[in-house]
Amino acid sequence: MKILITGGAGFIGGNFIHYMLNKYNDYSFVCLDALTYAGNMETIETLLNKVNFKFVKGNICDKDLVFNLFEKEQFDIVVNFAAESHVDRSIENPRIFLESNILGVQVLMDACLKYKVKRYHQVSTDEVYGDLPLERIDLFFTEDSPIKTSSPYSASKASADLLVLAYSKTFNLPMTISRCSNNYGPYHFPEKLIPLMINKALNNEQLPVYGNGSNVRDWLYVEDHCSAIDLIIHKGNIGEIYNIGGHNEKSNLDVVKIILKLLNKDESLISYVKDRPGHDLRYAIDPTKILRLGWEPKHNFETGIQETIKWNLEHDDWIRRVQSGEYLKWMERQYKW
Ligand code: NAD
Ligand code: TYD
Repeated sequence: MKILITGGAGFIGGNFIHYMLNKYNDYSFVCLDALTYAGNMETIETLLNKVNFKFVKGNICDKDLVFNLFEKEQFDIVVNFAAESHVDRSIENPRIFLESNILGVQVLMDACLKYKVKRYHQVSTDEVYGDLPLERIDLFFTEDSPIKTSSPYSASKASADLLVLAYSKTFNLPMTISRCSNNYGPYHFPEKLIPLMINKALNNEQLPVYGNGSNVRDWLYVEDHCSAIDLIIHKGNIGEIYNIGGHNEKSNLDVVKIILKLLNKDESLISYVKDRPGHDLRYAIDPTKILRLGWEPKHNFETGIQETIKWNLEHDDWIRRVQSGEYLKWMERQYKW
């Protein structure tokens, strides 16, 4: 079995490559990643000497490069993590989100059709469903919830999902889609809430909470997301959408307070800042369908956040090089590019 993993130098794709290489000795894997600011070769560096793993630097929007790669490698499965992923950046500059998150998906799917890939898996997000009211804790996103996006990021991911469904119906593309809630864990780029707050707290800096901190996210430890995708690409039914989440809803303020407590820091470090425009109130996943498929998450928020803090403390070099920008020079250092 040969699997293409796009966006594998990023947070979740990187964790997925570690997870899959560890589990399947007899498969081979290729990672295609453009190495944007969010791609970090140091995340997958230890895997580069494995005989069943190969890294290719390239953009999923580059049709020639993608088609040549598919022709050469003859993939069985494609799992697409490659995307611009930060909501705040999409508010500042939506264009690149439309290019990578929509047009890149079209290129990958065209290649899948031409080279007869057996499964295209699109890694999507619960943010395509918009938000739920804070006070209606009885409501959850199901796979049938309407698409109702708030940010250019979520709109680009929803557009991609619609395009994947259209390719399934019109061209019989063998596809699956997963929509996961917010992830956290190792190799998380410190622009997102949890790693940002851990690192600011460690440096005794102010922790910027948007608005009053009451917005709720449904947190999933990244390894549990990886195991769900592994299950879907092996056992999931072609043409289906699967929501992934573990019922770990927390307000942003509660998340920040838990981090401060575990790091023995004072709550006076919390600083309330201007709210994000269009800020979604609450995300909450109904995972019934993926549970029925046989998925079982291993972590809850309490265990996952402790693991994450431990990882951050033990990998201060990885974080320091991200913060200084040194990680971007990895290719130059290795290959003198
Ligand atoms: P990330 O920003 O950490 O990583 C994205 C990776 O994709 C980077 O390595 C980047 O270099 C690469 N990339 C970006 N544009 C590319 C392009 N045009 N061609 C090739 N490579 C490109 O993102 P992440 O948090 O790991 O998210 C991965 C996927 O999971 C995304 O599709 C995202 O929408 C989805 N998702 C994320 C979360 C979350 O909480 N982070 C939750 C649900 C779904
Ligand atoms: P984020 O990690 O950007 O993920 P998403 O927007 O995709 O859910 O943000 C998670 C939540 O944390 C979101 O409600 C916005 C909030 N947030 C802050 O309050 N302060 C911050 O500095 C950041 C980055 C996010």
